Amino acid sequence: MFKDLLLRKPMDQLMKEASATRELKRVLGPLNLTTLGIGAIIGAGIFVLTGQAAAQYAGPAIVLSFIISGFGAAMAALCYAEFASTVPISGSAYTYAYATLGELFAWIIGWDLMLEYLFGASTVAVGWSGYVVSFFEDFGVTIPSYLSSAPLTYDPVLGWHATGAFLNIPAMFIVALMTVLLVTGIKESAVFNNIIVLIKISVLILFITFGIAYIRTGNWIPFIPPNTGEFGHYGWSGILRGAGVIFFAYFGFDAVSTAAQEARNPKKDMPIGILSSLAISTVLYIAVSLVLTGMVKYDQLLVPDPIAIAVNAAGPGLFWLRPFIKIGAIAGLSSVILVLLLSQPRIFYTMAKDGLLPEKFSSVHPRFKTPYITTILTGIVAMVVAGLFPIEILGALVSIGTLLAFAIVCSSVLVLRKTQPDLPRPFKTPFVPWVPVFGTLFSFAQMLSLPVDTWLRLLIWMAIGFVIYFSYSRRHSKVRSMGAVSGCVSH
Ligand code: ALA
Repeated sequence: MFKDLLLRKPMDQLMKEASATRELKRVLGPLNLTTLGIGAIIGAGIFVLTGQAAAQYAGPAIVLSFIISGFGAAMAALCYAEFASTVPISGSAYTYAYATLGELFAWIIGWDLMLEYLFGASTVAVGWSGYVVSFFEDFGVTIPSYLSSAPLTYDPVLGWHATGAFLNIPAMFIVALMTVLLVTGIKESAVFNNIIVLIKISVLILFITFGIAYIRTGNWIPFIPPNTGEFGHYGWSGILRGAGVIFFAYFGFDAVSTAAQEARNPKKDMPIGILSSLAISTVLYIAVSLVLTGMVKYDQLLVPDPIAIAVNAAGPGLFWLRPFIKIGAIAGLSSVILVLLLSQPRIFYTMAKDGLLPEKFSSVHPRFKTPYITTILTGIVAMVVAGLFPIEILGALVSIGTLLAFAIVCSSVLVLRKTQPDLPRPFKTPFVPWVPVFGTLFSFAQMLSLPVDTWLRLLIWMAIGFVIYFSYSRRHSKVRSMGAVSGCVSH
């Protein structure tokens, strides 16, 4: 029975599936894959969280937090790059786990990835709503808070309770809009994403270029504010906590791997897309955080729109940049939502092909060539979640889910190197075992830093997943039925 749960999907079968799929359109080249990655990466992390992490934990040394986190993200990205070039299937981490650790782990990670992609889209949609409300306010238009905030929230004393708000309508609106775009085509979605990515990168470069003149080096002193006596409040422990908080800013490079079956040459281009999108984002993050903390004293950055605050602080000379910053943030957050909502249905699509979800989920639209049923389903659920819950609770859940996926993917690289050492790997993670080991430990350590409540929610989520697996997926698994016939599916 236990062995049964660890049935692995044979690698040769995966390879055949990867090259045989003609349902989805192979239209993405290395540039589109890189912009897809940047589309998913640069968002709420830099536009919202940086200021909060600098103000509360790290001070100007938030720059060091970005370097540390970037290092951890690079380890995970190198592991994703090996898998994405070796097993270029849109199931991403779910497929990698199926090939290495077996069906139960694959299910766990497939179910877990909903936290990253589906809940991630909802989280960023709530951040988007905040920026849009403040953008309209600049023009004298007020969207009432009961129509733009979460009706439910949680605190340790009161538990779950109503806030009096109706629904977060702008957050629901953006999810619906992106879902419609995604149904109409991958190429159309990629073109739209490219435009947005260009806008958000240009805005960040404008901020860096014009902000430099307004840096007052006194704001960087002390660069590492002394620890207050409490762990995580400034000093070196604050830098580490800051790194934990802004790790969210790096999530998204892995979304590139879910477009593997829409890439023209996935074996070569997947690693390029994953690694270059992360490298470009890292450089921008370090530069932006350096300029930001140079323009404003870090203790003034505990606001939802820190970059806009820095531009305000610069005085009339930079007023022209203000609307651009908000447009950049709104655009930036839109593309994160777009790419996360693009990734989720492709995971469902692959799980349905394997029989773990109903076959209908793998239907591709006859004209648009997109997995439209799962795209619409994902959109509806993400819309409801975005409408109901506050950003802090969603953000922590997204972090724990994503980190679990990173940890499993990094350890799977080691397993596959051992079980199938001769498999052709167009891209190889360097310094094995160190990079995967460090990637696993880093992700796990970040998970440990999250609150107990978040762990409990992860466990409840996983328990729901197990009920579905044992009552439906296990009985419909194609690998299992093949195993029953051949008796030799597991390696
Ligand atoms: N990295 C993405 C963001 O910061 C999830 O919004």
